Amino acid sequence: MGSNRSIFSSSSSHHHHHNTPLCTRFHQIGALALIATTFFLTRLLDHRHSFSSSSSSSHFSLSTDDGGFPLSWPDRGYGSRLSLKIYVYEEQEIYGLTELMRGRDGQISPDSCVKGQWGTQVKIHRFLLESGFRTLQKEEADFFFVPSYVKCVRMMGGLNDKEINKTYVKVLSQMPYFRRSGGRDHIFIFPSGAGAHLFRSWATYLNRSIILTPEGDRTDKRDTSAFNTWKDVIIPGNVDDEMTKFHTSVQPLPLSERKYLANFLGRAQGKIGRLQLVELAKQFPDKLESPELKFSGPDKLGRAEYFQHLRNAKFCLSPRGESSWTLRFYESFFVECVPVILSDQVELPFQNVIDYTQISIKLPSTYMGAELLAYLQAIPDEEIERMIARGRQIRCLWVYASENEPCSAMRGIMWELQRKVRRFHQSAETFWLHNGSIVNRNLVDFHGWKPPVPLP
Ligand SMILES: *[C@@H]1O[C@H](CO)[C@@H](O)[C@H](O)[C@H]1NC(C)=O
Ligand SMILES: *[C@@H]1O[C@H](CO)[C@@H](O)[C@H](O)[C@H]1NC(C)=O
Ligand SMILES: *[C@@H]1O[C@H](CO)[C@@H](O)[C@H](O)[C@H]1NC(C)=O
Repeated sequence: MGSNRSIFSSSSSHHHHHNTPLCTRFHQIGALALIATTFFLTRLLDHRHSFSSSSSSSHFSLSTDDGGFPLSWPDRGYGSRLSLKIYVYEEQEIYGLTELMRGRDGQISPDSCVKGQWGTQVKIHRFLLESGFRTLQKEEADFFFVPSYVKCVRMMGGLNDKEINKTYVKVLSQMPYFRRSGGRDHIFIFPSGAGAHLFRSWATYLNRSIILTPEGDRTDKRDTSAFNTWKDVIIPGNVDDEMTKFHTSVQPLPLSERKYLANFLGRAQGKIGRLQLVELAKQFPDKLESPELKFSGPDKLGRAEYFQHLRNAKFCLSPRGESSWTLRFYESFFVECVPVILSDQVELPFQNVIDYTQISIKLPSTYMGAELLAYLQAIPDEEIERMIARGRQIRCLWVYASENEPCSAMRGIMWELQRKVRRFHQSAETFWLHNGSIVNRNLVDFHGWKPPVPLP
């Protein structure tokens, strides 16, 4: 430990300081358990709270009996239960969607795109098709989902960047509803680190739309991030199904039996931080497991072996790779190690309900030396056990299962979307008349807007 320890001495004494009033900790655990079991029961509490505190404010008095103007905000935006309607565009309905889903020759099988960390683009689409919140009536839809598997299609050579760009523009021009809102009620998934940059002209066409992405940042390769924290939704990465089921077949190792303090099992990808960890592991081989892997962990080690290795440490380090998010963070919860985020720009999902201090640690990505190991070593096992126990309660939110499950990634996403529901849709090119008719700049009624509709 030595002199480096002083860097963290204030924070670790802070820890002890907070340990003494035990009840505070137990309160926190209790609160978290509540979140996990009923998950969005807190919504109900929130709702009641805001109702009582704002019942005297103007918008609520408006909604009572002085004119009958029905305002249901915030119930509509937050609410105590899920209530939203999503229209899912049919592949056959829009010319070009097939290419975005199966490549230019239609040869790429969606089933081969459902696996791996980018599988969310297929999984979420499939869940929406079965969703109780799906509507077949565009007129009543709160949102419009545009299916596309471009990340996978591009990787398999089904479309190149230029074709992807052109095809997206062609697709959007066939959607009068996209035109009506300027895209504000349209949902897209971009499942990889590149985010919406997969569609080259995203900034022109999608910069008002709702983007579902695991990625909050990609500023290392481009000068702009496609992610907007207020409009978009961070979704969990797609953890391998085998791993989400792993904990039911294999008991996690007791802390005392874990061979390592920490590990990082991934490709260094030439990234300075990751290479530092590989070096650090050579210096402290009994504390840190971080072999230099040439290929991705699961492929090189074999899946089961990779899981076995991961669970053999108390802490699983999640350093930034090509981009700020990393699947390792989510995997940690299933092998039951405490994730240590070393990726400064990362944005995590469901921050409306999850307090990440309770289940993970985030350190500056520059602390990749001996001081990192000294800090982790100083954390008492009971504290680690508590973090793991809380993580066990919320990890269901990383599992891509149906929204009908009491807790699943889909359910979390639905709640995030529900907050964005609007009664009314407008854009710079949307106008309306005295009788409620929505018209375009030439005063043509919305129902007469014929594709191709003009786009920005
Ligand atoms: C994307 O496609 C549109 C429509 O074909 C075109 O106007 C635009 O220049 C393209 N963007 C890029 C970056 O190629
Ligand atoms: C979003 O689109 C509008 C209209 O094309 C454009 O004026 C604006 O600069 C775009 N914003 C970004 C962040 O690219
Ligand atoms: C509203 O008024 C416009 C212009 O007077 C008319 O063309 C349109 O049909 C009307 N819409 C409805 C729903 O009555």
